[in-house]
Amino acid sequence: MSDASNESSSLRYEAPSSDGVGIVWLDIPGAKVNTLTLELLPEFGALMDRILKEGTAKSLVIASGKPAGFVAGANIDVLDTIDTLERGIEISKQGQAAMDRLANAPIPTVAAIHGDCLGGGLELALACTARVASQSDKTKLALPEVMLGLLPGAGGTQRLPKLIGIQSALDMMLTGRNIRAQKALKMGLVDRVVPPNMLLKAARDMAAHLAKGGAKPARKQSMKEGLSSFALEGNPLGRKMLFSMARKTVMKQSKGLYPAPLKILDVVAEGTAEAEANGFGELLLTPESNGLRHLFHCITALKKDNGPGTENVEPLPVGHVGMLGAGLMGAGIATVLADKGVTVRLKDRDMDGILRALDHSRQYFRKAVKRKRYRSCGARERIERISGGTDYAGFGQADIVIEAVFEDLNLKRQMVADIEDRSDRERPHPPIFASNTSSLPIADIARDAKYPDRVIGMHFFSPVEKMPLVEIIVTDQTDPVVTATTVAVARKMGKHVIVVGDCPGFYTTRALAPYMIESMFLALEGYALPDIDAAAMSVGFPVGPITLMDEVGIDVGAKVIKIMKESYGERMEFPESDLVDVFMAEGRLGRKANKGFYVYEKGKSKLVKGQKVVDPKVLSLVPSGTKTADRPKIAERLVLALVNEAAWCLHEGILREPRAGDLGAVMGIGFPPMEGGPFRYCDRIGIQTVVQRLETLAQENGRRYAPCPMLKTRAETGAVFYSKGKD
Ligand code: NAI
Repeated sequence: MSDASNESSSLRYEAPSSDGVGIVWLDIPGAKVNTLTLELLPEFGALMDRILKEGTAKSLVIASGKPAGFVAGANIDVLDTIDTLERGIEISKQGQAAMDRLANAPIPTVAAIHGDCLGGGLELALACTARVASQSDKTKLALPEVMLGLLPGAGGTQRLPKLIGIQSALDMMLTGRNIRAQKALKMGLVDRVVPPNMLLKAARDMAAHLAKGGAKPARKQSMKEGLSSFALEGNPLGRKMLFSMARKTVMKQSKGLYPAPLKILDVVAEGTAEAEANGFGELLLTPESNGLRHLFHCITALKKDNGPGTENVEPLPVGHVGMLGAGLMGAGIATVLADKGVTVRLKDRDMDGILRALDHSRQYFRKAVKRKRYRSCGARERIERISGGTDYAGFGQADIVIEAVFEDLNLKRQMVADIEDRSDRERPHPPIFASNTSSLPIADIARDAKYPDRVIGMHFFSPVEKMPLVEIIVTDQTDPVVTATTVAVARKMGKHVIVVGDCPGFYTTRALAPYMIESMFLALEGYALPDIDAAAMSVGFPVGPITLMDEVGIDVGAKVIKIMKESYGERMEFPESDLVDVFMAEGRLGRKANKGFYVYEKGKSKLVKGQKVVDPKVLSLVPSGTKTADRPKIAERLVLALVNEAAWCLHEGILREPRAGDLGAVMGIGFPPMEGGPFRYCDRIGIQTVVQRLETLAQENGRRYAPCPMLKTRAETGAVFYSKGKD
């Protein structure tokens, strides 16, 4: 029975039937998912007051009217408009008050959770007396505020530790990780897990049971769990040790660059509503949270981009992929496709390559079983989706062929011709040909193609299973349907997508190249190699450029840098030195050869006192350490080299919009996430300052630093990349 009176548009109250259980349905009109908004909180409070005043409900179930999920978090748009500490604190207090009202209700309340139960959604569920979740792959519980540089500000930092213990609560809040239903049950985060079609009934039953004074189902704690929580959480000394250990881990992982995890530790240690609200307000104003929230907006906005940039272009269905090249990238791409339900036929020059790739996939899926991502039958099903050989058998049915053979223009052109020749015989159109080249222009690969409109770039990053980005490169001739289909395949693989124009290196490789080249200038000037790496990491890059060069492969890097220099001249000039030639002659190709800038033993970095060791033989080639370390200066040179090239890409239309540049740089090449990307960085520092610094660097170090015309124009006119509240 639905009670239509006094209903707000987002909340629907279903008055109790004979069991005395009322249901509050959360259902924001016109939205696919529920999010908590500032308007909703007082409405919720008013509805609670009304229900309690009426007094007919003996207990309440809080459920979602959306099939997609419970509540996907708080709507963060409003946060971007807040610019005072007081207002930030106030927002948190409003959230706390709404949750307190629920928690202090004189009747029991039960959250019925299916799908996403994130952030403010989980805080709402935590304020209920009990929680019932659906046994579904879609059901995920998490407090991901840390990823936005924030903390759970609506009571979460206080309620979660009380419910599941400090250690588990800190783990959830510091990582933002998703907890699945069964795990949530084991942890005590939810009280029951039932099949999705039983959810409402189970929540109702639980509510009726609690209303009669019944107890919640008891949770069995393992002896290990019990001992550890007694030793660490049950006494002040243990608690002190627990927080000190957690702080050490946070410092190690974040290098102290992110204030949110440290603030979460402080707030949980204090355990008061006041500390939570103050912490929330403080974090909200930090540049780190602003940068991370900007990234979130980039992700949300770019998800809506279908690829061609024009409406009404539908992607073609893709169920089977032909994969050319079963090397490092081919194996990774095939694995992710198979994971997402697509069948893959691999082709390589020899069977060894195929066998290595199949082995790679098997290992990957077996590990996934160990991590309980799926059962062994799920792994088998996925492994069986991949097959391979040295001929083109199985390519006839491919909807798309992804090419990841060696980075050789003629070889890639040959691949296009082979696929087209076979198709002439087998089908009216060749499949889409997507090249995973890291630097070659797609138009060059398509030069002799009979169907250049079906050729596109699909640039993955290594390791494919982990890296979240795919850069899609379109030429003037690429058919919009081909673009839409390739974008859809990348999204099906769970990747973020940026669509960019065609040129040597496209966007990501092109923006990264001057950063890598600058690290060579710095090395040859005499800065110690570990200092160059440390300088980059001190501003938030996950690894430094010297380490990255060893990881990528010095031969691969040298090849790309040569292409970049031929295409972009002085901006990508390599310092005068025979360093690369000597490295090549010595077989010094980086970690894969156990020989690079640093010392490697069996593929692993040798560490002395936790520090990487520069290979003594390299020291005779670069004057490492003859110049005193000046990390801020080194970092500035590296960052601005990258930022300037990113601006060139926007200036030339390779990037359609700054957001793609920001997301691409962070997700693809490790630009510091808390800066939100190179364009957001320019806005934060001020474009005028960026131009001034580039001009000074150009005078000190060479014309390669000459600022991009777009930056200069914006500096003169005072324009920014993002106007406030619109990023
Ligand atoms: P890889 O050397 O590991 O694999 C290349 C594979 O292509 C080898 O197994 C080789 O046997 C096979 N191959 C060569 N000629 C062939 C032919 N005619 N038919 C079928 N297979 C053939 O190289 P990797 O690293 O996988 O790179 C492949 C492509 O991906 C290159 O274009 C590279 O620039 C690009 N790429 C590489 C990235 C990386 O981090 N390694 C990142 C992004 C793109």
